[in-house]
Amino acid sequence: MTRGGGRSFGAVEVIAAKRDCHELTRAQIEWVVGAYTRGEVADEQMSALAMAILLNGMDAAETAHWTQAMIDSGEVLDFGDVGRPLVDKHSTGGVGDKITLPLAPLVAACGAAVPQLSGRGLGHTGGTLDKLESIPGWRASLSTAEIRDQLVEVGAVVCATTPTLAPADRRLYALRDVTGTVESIPLIASSIMSKKLAEGTGGLVLDVKVGSGAFMKTLGRAGELADAMTAIGAAHGLPTTALLTDMSRPLGRCVGNALEVAESVEVLRGGGPADVVALTVALAREMLVLAGITDADPAAVLASGAAHDVWERMIAAQGGDPSAPLPVARHVDEITADRTGVFSGADALAVGTAAWRLGAGRARKEDPVQPAAGVRLLVEPGEEVRPGTPLLELHTDTPERIPDARQILGGAALLVTADPPPDRKLVLDIRRPD
Ligand code: URA
Repeated sequence: MTRGGGRSFGAVEVIAAKRDCHELTRAQIEWVVGAYTRGEVADEQMSALAMAILLNGMDAAETAHWTQAMIDSGEVLDFGDVGRPLVDKHSTGGVGDKITLPLAPLVAACGAAVPQLSGRGLGHTGGTLDKLESIPGWRASLSTAEIRDQLVEVGAVVCATTPTLAPADRRLYALRDVTGTVESIPLIASSIMSKKLAEGTGGLVLDVKVGSGAFMKTLGRAGELADAMTAIGAAHGLPTTALLTDMSRPLGRCVGNALEVAESVEVLRGGGPADVVALTVALAREMLVLAGITDADPAAVLASGAAHDVWERMIAAQGGDPSAPLPVARHVDEITADRTGVFSGADALAVGTAAWRLGAGRARKEDPVQPAAGVRLLVEPGEEVRPGTPLLELHTDTPERIPDARQILGGAALLVTADPPPDRKLVLDIRRPD
């Protein structure tokens, strides 16, 4: 038996309780999460418990206690003194999902403060920090004092999460990654929400992605995850809205770090792909509702260029040069249509995986990424194509990876059909707090 901060339990007793489908008590959860963080519960014991949770679930009360225990494992930030309402968004991750880049400055330009503590990408979904690090000079790591100063002076910060925020989640997430236990809804929901609650935001909008390029492949599973996260928000007094959005196709035309920064700047300058603009504005509207800001129209603010001004200040405040040229790939190859028809879209998972293989993403946490690698779509769904019409570009510094990317994008990944595709519905559902 190992002794924790309050009551103590045996790790085997807690594992067996969940194995036998019992509800874990608050005291058991506080003990096991705390003891694991202190190194008093072994990785193999936590692995067994994570697997029991994956198989037998946790109800809303257990999930709320689990989340609180992970928050209590570290520091809780408080930016209540920055002089603006605080609001943040979290995306469960998708292909071409660069929305944070235009969204954070847009919401700041509308009067709120956005403290977005983000992560790096793993696998086929890119990470916001990886994208921003393609800007020459930009620095991801900030101290708490620097985050506060930037919230006061600029209104938006996108930076690396600090090591002191929910350290239990960092250990547990690494363990889940290698034990086949990532896909548990209560564990995903508590992992995401513990970090957002510890970051000290006053409201949270969740973008829960649904489709081939997302964690959640079906609307049903995505709805379950959205409900689990909004319930945790409610249990902790954090107003939380979830949008379920389509991730069967990439967002925008560009996938890859520097390519996505360039596309985001187009949006901030009043242009850019219609889906990126529409989702940015939809998420901004929900964030402003939670922030209690009723007199700003995000679509008009985006068109006015005010969000672009905030973007330049946000990048410069973190050492970046917003006007410096972005990295360009040494090799660019094209994939062309092999038949006549209508381009009906590209599969998100295939495009994300191809961009990853070209060097835009990493297979292990410590791998470097190529800032310029990725995929650029050259045609819009609905456009007519003929044999030889260029459909997309492959960008990389390592051309030996091109055949692999081409193979991933073969078959049915790039659809050319006889009939035009149905209109894409971007926002599939919204779950608002009661
Ligand atoms: N993102 C997280 O932060 N945690 C998870 O468990 C899954 C995705």
